[in-house]
Amino acid sequence: MGNWSREKYFKALKFSAEAHKGQLMPETDLPYVVHASLVAMEILAALTAEEVDRPNIAVQCALLHGCLEDTYIIYDDIVSKFGGYVADGVLALSKDGAVGISEDEHKRHWLQLEDSLHRIKKQPREIWMVKLADRITNLQPPPSHWSDEKIERYKEGAELIHRELAPASVYLGERLRVKIDSYPGG
Ligand code: NI
Repeated sequence: MGNWSREKYFKALKFSAEAHKGQLMPETDLPYVVHASLVAMEILAALTAEEVDRPNIAVQCALLHGCLEDTYIIYDDIVSKFGGYVADGVLALSKDGAVGISEDEHKRHWLQLEDSLHRIKKQPREIWMVKLADRITNLQPPPSHWSDEKIERYKEGAELIHRELAPASVYLGERLRVKIDSYPGG
């Protein structure tokens, strides 16, 4: 428990901050990397509650989870800096933009989520935990410009993530459950 490397944490945090430089956390004027560190915070909290085989993989993937989806960083960059396990985890956590390309926005988002969950489930438990932590972090009060329908869909996505991935972590599963139940929408 708690057996994670501060050096690896700092290296991944710096890499992520550099890669996401200039991007903001959605609906805020905070740097994007605040989001990545909140996801890592959820992982660290889980590590104090549960025994995990590869805590450093979870911590690094939490900090790097947006790098392939939203920055110029490519898979090989992550392999060379952090190794294949971390790179494969980050790749599974990234949407495949080609999935559902001909569908409407809602359908596309849903298909991309299903596709990513399918790939995450082929990864070690630590990667499942990062996806749980990501959605826990993202279940903030919805922005005022979101329609009721959009709020409902976001909640449905969170339910799907919970259904598929909660077995990876009792701690994070319960935490996501509480977040979903207090989120607006049916
Ligand atoms: Ni995220």
